[in-house]
Amino acid sequence: MIIAVDGPTASGKGTIAKALALHFGLPHLDTGLLYRAVGRQVFLNGTDPDISGDALAACDFPETLLGDPELRTEVTGGLASRVSIHPAVRKALYERQRAFATQPGGAVLDGRDIGTVIAPEADVKLFVTASVAARAQRRYREILERGGTATPSSIEDDLQRRDHRDTARKDAPLKPATDALILDTTALGREEAIAAAITAAQNALAA
Ligand code: C5P
Repeated sequence: MIIAVDGPTASGKGTIAKALALHFGLPHLDTGLLYRAVGRQVFLNGTDPDISGDALAACDFPETLLGDPELRTEVTGGLASRVSIHPAVRKALYERQRAFATQPGGAVLDGRDIGTVIAPEADVKLFVTASVAARAQRRYREILERGGTATPSSIEDDLQRRDHRDTARKDAPLKPATDALILDTTALGREEAIAAAITAAQNALAA
């Protein structure tokens, strides 16, 4: 059984994907982390995230980089969104994601193009979304909890920039699969969003 969870940054898709994995006893892959590792590696190489060849070279990042807390920062998120535009980067990361999705027993993957490109045959496709203001507020709280500093308006601007880049790119843009269930978490708390996702997945599996 493959469960695809797509959606924009800070929509709650990561939390929901982890909870679905736990509920259904499946392994989970946060595919954004792979793009973040490429973005971080470009930075470490001192090269240009907007040049396809530089970004492609950074796809060779060491596995240990996936555990680097720097991957979670807003700066790395911005770099990830820039390197993810290049078709060569998406192609380089495809097999790894595809192999995870098709492993025996199934898997849960979250990202932007899981239901459209990586696993179009997924048994359950959720597109998790929320208003920009609600997402910025959540991201703001997360940053404060980690001891960082930011303002809600700077986060909102950044989210809007990243949404635009993710939805406007030609290759695998962020958009719901035609058969995805849309889950808007704007007015939902964490537990409510998780419960709604589990119900949606159970309904999709029973259909
Ligand atoms: O989900 P997260 O914010 O960690 O993703 C970081 C960036 O990686 C996104 O803004 C997006 O540009 C890119 N990404 C992608 N396709 C995926 C996952 C992430 O293009 N499947």
